[in-house]
Amino acid sequence: MQTHEIVRRFTAHFEKHGHTSVPSASLILEDPQLLFVNAGMVQFKPYFLGEVPPPYPRATSIQKCVRTPDIDEVGKTTRHATFFQMAGNFSFGDYFKRGAIEFAWTLITNSQGDGGYGFDPERIWVTVFNDDDEAIGLWREIAGLPEERIQRRGGDDNYWDMGVPGPGGPCSEIYYDRGPEFGAEGGPEADEDRYLEIWNLVFMQDERGELSPKKGHPPIGTLPHKNIDTGMGVERVAFLLQGVDNVYETDLVRPVIAKAEELSGRTYGRNTEDDVRFRVIADHARSSVMIVGDGVTPGNEGRGYVLRRLLRRIVRSARLLGVTGPCLGEFATVVRDAMSATYPELAADFERISAVIRAEEETFRATLTAGEKIFDTAVDEAKRSGRSTLPGDQAFALHDTYGFPIDLTLEMAEEAGLVVDRERFTALMDEQRTRAKADAAERKVGFVDVSVYRAVLDTHGVTDFLGYQTLTSESRVVGLLRDGQTVPAAEEGERVEVLLDRTPFYAEAGGQQADTGVLRGASFEVRVDDVQSPVAGLRVHRGVVTAGTVTLDAEIVTEVDRARRAAVSRAHTATHLVHAGVRGALGSAAAQAGSLNAPGRLRFDFTSPTGAVPAAALVEIEEEVNSVLQEDREIQTYETSLDSARKLGAMMLFGEKYGDSVRVVDMGDYSRELCGGTHVGRTGELGLVRVLSEASIGSGVRRVEALVGLDAFKHATTEHLLVNQLADQLKARPEELPDRIGSLVERLRTAERDLEKHRADAVLASGASLADAAEDLDGTALVAVTAPDGVTGNDLRTLAADVRGKLGDRPGVVALFAVEDGKVSFVVATTKAARDNGIAAGKLIPEFAAAVGGRGGGKPDLAQGGGTDPAGIDAAIQKLRSALRP
Ligand code: SER
Repeated sequence: MQTHEIVRRFTAHFEKHGHTSVPSASLILEDPQLLFVNAGMVQFKPYFLGEVPPPYPRATSIQKCVRTPDIDEVGKTTRHATFFQMAGNFSFGDYFKRGAIEFAWTLITNSQGDGGYGFDPERIWVTVFNDDDEAIGLWREIAGLPEERIQRRGGDDNYWDMGVPGPGGPCSEIYYDRGPEFGAEGGPEADEDRYLEIWNLVFMQDERGELSPKKGHPPIGTLPHKNIDTGMGVERVAFLLQGVDNVYETDLVRPVIAKAEELSGRTYGRNTEDDVRFRVIADHARSSVMIVGDGVTPGNEGRGYVLRRLLRRIVRSARLLGVTGPCLGEFATVVRDAMSATYPELAADFERISAVIRAEEETFRATLTAGEKIFDTAVDEAKRSGRSTLPGDQAFALHDTYGFPIDLTLEMAEEAGLVVDRERFTALMDEQRTRAKADAAERKVGFVDVSVYRAVLDTHGVTDFLGYQTLTSESRVVGLLRDGQTVPAAEEGERVEVLLDRTPFYAEAGGQQADTGVLRGASFEVRVDDVQSPVAGLRVHRGVVTAGTVTLDAEIVTEVDRARRAAVSRAHTATHLVHAGVRGALGSAAAQAGSLNAPGRLRFDFTSPTGAVPAAALVEIEEEVNSVLQEDREIQTYETSLDSARKLGAMMLFGEKYGDSVRVVDMGDYSRELCGGTHVGRTGELGLVRVLSEASIGSGVRRVEALVGLDAFKHATTEHLLVNQLADQLKARPEELPDRIGSLVERLRTAERDLEKHRADAVLASGASLADAAEDLDGTALVAVTAPDGVTGNDLRTLAADVRGKLGDRPGVVALFAVEDGKVSFVVATTKAARDNGIAAGKLIPEFAAAVGGRGGGKPDLAQGGGTDPAGIDAAIQKLRSALRP
């Protein structure tokens, strides 16, 4: 059974039983504790916790998931994958254990003709949490499972939570017995390779605290309702139903292995080591494409780092299979073809995805070569000094600076007959990790403990946001924090966080900077300098009490700084226009990768598959944007369903989670984007947009910076003044400046060339007089002098050769000395006749070099050297004379 059929049957089964089918969430959700979405329940977490009322009592989804903690296991086992799809059914306070067990059992054991998966009921085993007799009873009653195929297991295996405080519960897992040839008898407790887990049913009822019930710590509370969260591993079911040996050989993954076979010329299934590499490539190629598809670009921290690691592991594995050229683009294409039936956005967005992936490969291949050189040198050094270890410092540098995964270094060292000093390497890695942890801890300040915010949210609900309509409001203080702790009051001079029942203040989001302003009470004032939303739905005003004492429950008037808000809104509107302009010029592969909307200026980052944006295209984008300003279009904002926004062609950002209802910012046909930010009413209010620069910020991502409104005007004025100043100085009209400067530069170059020629002529001219002054040493002409001032280096050699030429057929020796910075350099040249007489320039040097404290050498016709003692030149010349006199 093909994967798409497995997934289709799952959805159909649960839809038939009253479940709403919900699309997979992006792999990236706003959750500070999660790098990637790793389970189907993540997008439903607020419903389990009771933070938001669920819009439906039952749901089903096929969720894309990424899990990387076991990345080293990939390819070595039958079942570890960094990307997989989790099919799940969810009940929010609706059915509980009985329903979950019934639904799962019928789907897996119903015959394939009947819409099920047709697993043999005799081969199914289940596990339950310690003393969950209720679940055991239900398994016996519903499935008729005999007692010996129901195993009790502890929290480690049969309690599920997200690994952090939040919802959790005991679970019951369903296993399929692959048969005696795959391992020991005795159920999942004995062997999880033979007994393969296919489905986990979580009876979500607890709220876990800092410590997990997995380890025996009691939950800190119960959830408002009893819920169900299940997850079936789609690839595992596929592997069993397709009769292959592991998840990597299933229909959607195997094609990448085939591509790797084609590129490497090796065959899968011949050699264990190669097979692991084939599977690593297949698994990682899929996760990378899915991750980039959701908007992540390779980087050095967080998600970007995971992605980078995956991509580099592919490059390395391919290299070990003997693939020498670039290959990631080809693997990505295969993944696209396999996956886009389910995820059409992969095809639509493939140009961008492929560009990001290929750029990373290029970067790594560049350091790969440099790294290999470093490696070779280190190996040579080790061998020369008779050592058999490669120093840990070097392995670490290769890892840290050149992006070499340590196991690549290990393998290469082994090939070279060396072992890596692992201890030192590990110590350096530990140091680095400690540093990284400290960094991360620092960055988290302000978000350390969200439970205080959550408590306010539980009591008072979300902060009503009035900021689209008004910049001032009458509000009430519903939460007051100092140093992360709730306080009843705060005094003048203290830094506080103020939570209100309603506010017009915009909290920093989507690249738009926060509002600033004032909260005014009857007898106090708080100056707000930042507004953040550490918990969805809550707006936290940060600032200083500038007068009086602010108290909890106080009635206040809020006032947003109007000028700043207006300038930020202009920038945000301009960003949408620049985004539309960039896409118009470069095509849809140019997708927004980040932005900043600050007062009067903006930054817009986007992926550019074609590298730098040509200057002419940039000018066109700028002109087009400004023509939209001139049209003074009305900007409309409205709420609509995600579906109809999609139909309207509204641009959406990757990695953004949108609810069913979305806000669209609409500037007519020119730009239509989903956006929660604030904007101006008409494009004309922007006045002017000036693009300042365009540059690379790494990994195929470009950045445009621009100014808006008066800031743009002021910038234009400054440039105008500058041009006028130049025109004045050069006595030219502004439009003549390029020509004028061009010709000035040209004249300067000519003058420099002339000067150089004159100097060279002068040197050569001195050649004739030097030759004329040659002394005669018994038939050998000798010119031995200090060269004219300024003749050094190449000139000295040229002059020596020239003097030699002027000596003609005579036996002759030319020795020229030059002094520069207290050091002596010298050149000796001999004529052919002299050489015929047995005089060699290289042999003459040792005769006199010591006199100037130096040495040198060379060939019979020309030799050179240097010394440190200019005072010895006369003595040196004397020595040379003696040497030539037989
Ligand atoms: N949340 C559970 C898991 O990830 C079941 O969906 O295994």
